[in-house]
Amino acid sequence: SFRGVIAVDGPSGSGKSTVSKRLAGALGAGYLDTGAMYRAATWAVLRSGAALTDPAAVTAAVHAAELTITTDPTAVAVRVDGQPVDAEIRGETVTAAVSAVSAVPAVRAELIAAQRRIIDAARDTTGIVVEGRDIGAVVAPDADLKVFLTADATERARRRSTENATALAATQADLHRRDQADSKVTKPLEAAADAVTVDTTHDPIDAVVDRLLVLLAERD
Ligand code: C5P
Repeated sequence: SFRGVIAVDGPSGSGKSTVSKRLAGALGAGYLDTGAMYRAATWAVLRSGAALTDPAAVTAAVHAAELTITTDPTAVAVRVDGQPVDAEIRGETVTAAVSAVSAVPAVRAELIAAQRRIIDAARDTTGIVVEGRDIGAVVAPDADLKVFLTADATERARRRSTENATALAATQADLHRRDQADSKVTKPLEAAADAVTVDTTHDPIDAVVDRLLVLLAERD
């Protein structure tokens, strides 16, 4: 069975989450949603009342919160100080603030250290599929397979607005804003040199997962 680390990077709406969870399910591997960790950290910052413009206050709020996340691809559960925040972290308030919190270097250092601990615990047991923006380049540069998922901007917005029931134009504008903000820190729209790029604009999710399973088998 699978051992090791698969990095899946790409922007929102690229199909990252669905592909990563299904890939982990097919391999019997764990799954780590690093975006959910940045979202939970953002929820903790908003709860604390810290100003998003004050990096020291943002860092202190993240540091004071106990974030936990499960790695079961069929049941991801995120908690802050024991409180489930799975619904809250997908809402508009957190989504609007997450790029600012993720841009604080001390926040990234803390979350990346936590991500590496989770990855190291799974690497030689179940293996793990890790999704995010900087997994192949920064968090797990030694990953066994690095995947970069893309889709064209209209299709990404269409997927997101179906998920959130928000208007298409507003969603596309919001994704664009977040891509621009995230680009100052990570490379949401750019593949690592050693990543396999898969465009999901026209492909059904299952076809993408099958392609990745073939790529993985070819590597062994
Ligand atoms: O993937 P998702 O849309 O849930 O990510 C939410 C936000 O978390 C991104 O817009 C980005 O600001 C941040 N993020 C990050 N690095 C990661 C994953 C997410 O900076 N590895």
